Amino acid sequence: MESTLKGLTALVTGASGGLGAHFAEFLAAQGASVALAARRVSMVEARAEAIRAAGGQAIALPLDVSDAAAIGPAMDEVEARLGPIAILVNNAGVGGEGLALEISVEDWDRTFDVNVRGVFLCAREAARRMIASGVAARGQARIVNIASIHTFEPKGGLAAYCASKAAVGMMTKVLAREWARQMIAVNAICPGYIETDINADWFKTEGGQKQLKSFPRRRLAEAEDLDAALLMLAGPAARAITGTLITIDDGQSLS
Ligand SMILES: NC(=O)c1ccc[n+]([C@@H]2O[C@H](COP(=O)([O-])OP(=O)(O)OC[C@H]3O[C@@H](n4cnc5c(N)ncnc54)[C@H](OP(=O)(O)O)[C@@H]3O)[C@@H](O)[C@H]2O)c1
Repeated sequence: MESTLKGLTALVTGASGGLGAHFAEFLAAQGASVALAARRVSMVEARAEAIRAAGGQAIALPLDVSDAAAIGPAMDEVEARLGPIAILVNNAGVGGEGLALEISVEDWDRTFDVNVRGVFLCAREAARRMIASGVAARGQARIVNIASIHTFEPKGGLAAYCASKAAVGMMTKVLAREWARQMIAVNAICPGYIETDINADWFKTEGGQKQLKSFPRRRLAEAEDLDAALLMLAGPAARAITGTLITIDDGQSLS
């Protein structure tokens, strides 16, 4: 089976660090031309430079996915510099911690603005372009949403985050249904806990260590554990895969 992404342009949101930076490096290593977007421009620039130094093709651009007006111009820039977008990795996300009795309206809204509205607006803008450019008709259009095990699993203190990721799961299925005839594959990866800035402080606490010990393998997963699923969902293998949510959690949700 053909696995290379050579000749395809990928946009990864939230690529200044954590999983997004890893996804961008991985897609570039598979031959894709990659645009790395996030709010911290110097960080995406450094990541793009590292990809170019390793022989890949990458550009960096500023993008706040909660700014609806910024998404179209950012994708204009990607298409002008790298060509039509074939792969969108909708990765940008925030933690949204806070007990339900205490979380502020502002924190709740911020979680949904980034994790839900941002994911929707990026998916829709990318889908419009995939259709207009002919990428969709060629069967190359792929949207990969990064959800979470908390799409399915409740956790106290994370009402906003869990609800936002459940929304991403259902959104993935509805968009897959709406855009099935246009040949755009829309899927989601639901990772378990992987240490990044989003949770590093938590795993230093007693509660975090207790949670870690409750996992069947007593460890966190690694960003590389998501590579096989991402390659499958971003490339030719996903020809007939759409509306699927793939959990990769090292068995954590079995605890
Ligand atoms: N790590 C885990 O255990 C885990 C598990 C399941 C799912 N996830 C999901 O994986 C995704 C990546 O998380 P991570 O673990 O890599 O966390 P992270 O290290 O905190 O990275 C989050 C990324 O999102 C970007 N971001 C935040 N708000 C943004 C905005 N408004 N516009 C554009 N980019 C924004 C950040 O960049 P800037 O601050 O530079 O904008 C950063 O690059 C998230 O959707 C998260 O929910 C993570």
